[in-house]
Amino acid sequence: MLYLKSVDLKKEKIESLVIPVCEDKNIHEDKTINSLIRKAKKIKAFKGGKDDEVALYNLSEVKAESVVFLGLGKHDKIDMEAMRAMSGKAAKGGIKKEFSDVFMAVPGAGKINVEMASVLEAMMEGAFLGNHLFDKYKKEKKYHSIKKINFLVNADTAKKYSELPSRVETVCQGTILAREWVSMPPNDKKPERFTKSIVTLAKKENLKVTVLDEKELKRQKFGAILAVAAGSRSKPRMVVLEYNPAKAKKTVALVGKGVTFDSGGINLKPSASLSEMKLDMSGAAAVAATLITAARLKSELRLIGLIPIVENMPSGDASRPGDIIKSYEGKTIEIGNTDAEGRLILIDAISYAIKKYKPQTLIDLATLTGACVVALGEKIAGVFSFDDKLADEVILSGQKVHERCWRMPLPEDYKEQLKSDFADLNNIGSTRYGGAITAALFLSEFVGDTCWSHIDIAGPAYAQKESAYCGVGGTGFGVRLLWDLMEKL
Ligand code: BES
Ligand code: ZN
Ligand code: ZN
Repeated sequence: MLYLKSVDLKKEKIESLVIPVCEDKNIHEDKTINSLIRKAKKIKAFKGGKDDEVALYNLSEVKAESVVFLGLGKHDKIDMEAMRAMSGKAAKGGIKKEFSDVFMAVPGAGKINVEMASVLEAMMEGAFLGNHLFDKYKKEKKYHSIKKINFLVNADTAKKYSELPSRVETVCQGTILAREWVSMPPNDKKPERFTKSIVTLAKKENLKVTVLDEKELKRQKFGAILAVAAGSRSKPRMVVLEYNPAKAKKTVALVGKGVTFDSGGINLKPSASLSEMKLDMSGAAAVAATLITAARLKSELRLIGLIPIVENMPSGDASRPGDIIKSYEGKTIEIGNTDAEGRLILIDAISYAIKKYKPQTLIDLATLTGACVVALGEKIAGVFSFDDKLADEVILSGQKVHERCWRMPLPEDYKEQLKSDFADLNNIGSTRYGGAITAALFLSEFVGDTCWSHIDIAGPAYAQKESAYCGVGGTGFGVRLLWDLMEKL
């Protein structure tokens, strides 16, 4: 779907050519492209400012039916995200115009403040992700994705980066897989079906797959997972995916919260908060998609994905506020609130990961708290870690792939708030403040001395509004982040 091409624009018959244009500097090498830009800039309404757009048709200089000029704004302000957004917009525009084969002009080497590999990567990511449509549930498919997106470069660049398109495609396919799982309605992804969907894809990539069903979870005393699942007719699962390359020196465990629908349980959520709670398996989706991506791209790390999958429902069998349960690790927990279910399923998965796989690093991804969305908004994830190096690495990867992360504190004295009069811990804090922190501190009680980071993705996992390279629904947040991080660890 993504191609690097070096062609003569005067001769090549093209359906549509997209040219990014900078407001105050020339960023292209190709003479034909520069003459087209001069023509476009003669139009009063188009100066190359950010989000400016103009299309010209049947120009004599080229054999393209249409040429679309997209403004990037001022030269000094252009970064990788501006390039992603521009090509995402180009893909979305192309879909609306029903194009099937689009060419995009890539700025010349050294013409913008980012190196060529990064420019290409960003443009390809934006285009591939922006070209995704989630219309599985529509009878009539109004639009179709563009079949071929070609990136126009000189012959040397095409040769030098010939491997890049397929690598970017694979990583973005991981993001899209996670997006689709998250956007899928909760009646179609109850624990058993979501598990099957993960298992089928994981087996195709030759990952080692183990599924612990309800019987096995009971036998091995996963008390916290079972307590959350108790109210639902759909039985819980724990999916373990293993990627075991021969020369691996390090084991990294990734744990993802997989609540296929979070009604809150007996502490039922108010109506307004219920509708989007199909998103509560976004951590699980990101972890499964990352493992699949790692297998496709042959990561050098030993990676273990641990994915507890449950549905949190109220019923006569559901756990009650006040219940005391015993976690897999052995600590007892008083359920102060059945809506604080994510941390319960995570601690059993974390304890199991540490006991069975002894990872050097453990990272969990979870749509854990509304409080984190209050603190950081809908686009930034909260990162918690006792390890400064790991926290910095997560944040740097987030900056690079524009899945933004912000470090949050883990103050020792706040642990006080998790005390229970009757059990070893309470699953909620004693005050209504600092909810993202108390949730993370609750998890920290189960990580021992393993180097650990918790990423609360409650905000950025789901988009209520369309943006440059993402539609409404699951964003796939975490896949590109984790993949970039895995390459560094
Ligand atoms: N799944 C929710 C968190 C959430 C909220 C995700 C908004 C995405 C958007 C989680 O299970 C939850 O309900 N948390 C409670 C915890 C509280 C009961 C201590 C919350 O954040 O209100
Ligand atoms: Zn909840
Ligand atoms: Zn939840």
